[in-house]
Amino acid sequence: MCGIVGYAGTSSRVADHGALDVLIEGLRRLEYRGYDSAGVAVVADGAVHSRKKAGKLVNLENEIADAPLPESMTGIGHTRWATHGGPSDGNAHPHLADGGKLAMIHNGIIENFAGIKAELLADGVSFLSETDTEVAAALLGRLYSTEANGDLTAAMQLAVQRLEGAFTLLAVHQDHPGVVVAARRNSPLVLGLGEGENFLGSDVSGFIDFTRRAVELGQDQIVTITPDTHSITDFNGNPAEGKEFTVDWDAASAEKGGFPSFMEKEIFDQPAAVADTLLGRSDADGRLTLDELRIAPEELAEISKIVVLACGTSAYAGSVAKYAIESWCRIPVEVELSHEFRYREPIVDEKTLIVSISQSGETMDTLMAVRYAKEQGAKTMSICNTNGSTIPRESDAVLYTHAGPEIAVASTKAFLAQITATYLLGLYLAQLRGNLFQGQIKDILADLGKIPSKIQDVLDRAGEIKELARSMADANSVLFLGRHVGYPVAMEGALKLKEIAYIHAEGFAAGELKHGPIALIDDGQPVFVVVPSQRGRDSLHSKVVSNIQEVRARGAKTLVIAEDGDNAVKDFAEWVFFVPETPTLLMPLLATVPLQIFACELASAKGYDVDQPRNLAKSVTVE
Ligand code: AGP
Repeated sequence: MCGIVGYAGTSSRVADHGALDVLIEGLRRLEYRGYDSAGVAVVADGAVHSRKKAGKLVNLENEIADAPLPESMTGIGHTRWATHGGPSDGNAHPHLADGGKLAMIHNGIIENFAGIKAELLADGVSFLSETDTEVAAALLGRLYSTEANGDLTAAMQLAVQRLEGAFTLLAVHQDHPGVVVAARRNSPLVLGLGEGENFLGSDVSGFIDFTRRAVELGQDQIVTITPDTHSITDFNGNPAEGKEFTVDWDAASAEKGGFPSFMEKEIFDQPAAVADTLLGRSDADGRLTLDELRIAPEELAEISKIVVLACGTSAYAGSVAKYAIESWCRIPVEVELSHEFRYREPIVDEKTLIVSISQSGETMDTLMAVRYAKEQGAKTMSICNTNGSTIPRESDAVLYTHAGPEIAVASTKAFLAQITATYLLGLYLAQLRGNLFQGQIKDILADLGKIPSKIQDVLDRAGEIKELARSMADANSVLFLGRHVGYPVAMEGALKLKEIAYIHAEGFAAGELKHGPIALIDDGQPVFVVVPSQRGRDSLHSKVVSNIQEVRARGAKTLVIAEDGDNAVKDFAEWVFFVPETPTLLMPLLATVPLQIFACELASAKGYDVDQPRNLAKSVTVE
């Protein structure tokens, strides 16, 4: 979750920007990752100068205004999401070592820091904080001034040999103005290449304002940047390579574009997110062309089951995918919460296709589950929205969603893009395995191609939903019901309300009502019901209408999402929102949108920060 920025520039650039400008701008772009303190360190006049402060970035800026830093062209910056040690000035990064000559910032968790700390304490080292980071800094400082003999890169190579867990480390030393050394294991880091200046960032947002040339860094790599050079090695000092790419979105597209929040902007970005994810992935004859998959078609044709690994909203996308892929491909699909998967001795072999779904590509729970599955011999595919992130890099294949940067912590457009990507995967497998005729695939792709404009139809009527949300700003409990693909939609609607409006909300399979949850229904209890298409499977529709009657008979305030022309629900709905007709399996791409708008508007009506809700972070990079 932490935000990391590193910079090494030449003095000729000082006219444009100094290190501090780059660090603060980069940290501002990384705020979405969620944090509770911030700090910077710069190298100038033969010394390291550091400022750090608990709270938001503005607190750090005020601190620097009160105690200015010297002009510098070398520095590191950090926004911290507390893991070891609570949010405080003392626990904020950077941490100093080697008598204040060295500064370090860190993202991740060093699992063996206690033993190293004990060693260093016995050696007379004292610590100011409770953090694992300060231990790593002290270790680096000790190695720098002993075995590494004043070589910062060599010291880093020695230090990381001792560390276990997940870490991205950046360090500067007063003896080396113009040099930043970094190391990464299980935690994100990307290199940015400029002219007479180079950058490091937890993701490209950290330097997007200065360069779009980026280099993916691999697992267990060390990178040393100076204003004009960058060198990459493995942890043993052997030369290594990163993969250069161009960032295909600019800072502007990550701005709010006139919306009151990133979340609302991203909800309204959804037609494009779905359209862009579909773009270029099928030909005029409706044949899927997923060239980026990197798993041989003949191998995919042989898989015997699919296991989806994901968390939160991404897991609900996986639940929607289960219905579609099982229907089209007749392959069993298990949807597993990543953090549960590897602890239950799952049955996985070389005929299992692991499909991880992750917007950030850095969710530690999902990364560790994917690693576990790979050890069991499974093939792994990542559905991910963040180019250059760890999970796709470690997977055999990747199917990128093209939702663009999702800044708000609450996932919206990435969710619809993930569902779209899983549909593409399902159709591709059906095409490979011959479960569907080419004409059927072409028809489904045509239906998918109409979805962006249907989403726009829903967005054009957002006012109706916002009006309902504002009228319910005092609600303290909302239930969500759905059947078939409407069930994961109900779960996602509940999660949105929980995470941004802090209201108790629960999603249920509508058929589960009579097995217990109906006891929750009291007079005036708001209940959203996601109603399937009338043209859908057997009596799915009539059963859900019965569920609406059951809760209404017990006093529920029935809030119904149904398909255009569905008159059967009108008599039992206190409020109804109609979405355009679409085939049942594709309905989640439409029915989810009113629930997103509802949660966003209700949270806004309560005056909450919908982009950075309390306790949450955009990317959960710790287990
Ligand atoms: C969704 O609104 C939440 N932010 C959260 O549940 C998120 O979906 C989950 O943490 C998974 O994140 P990922 O997609 O980046 O792996």
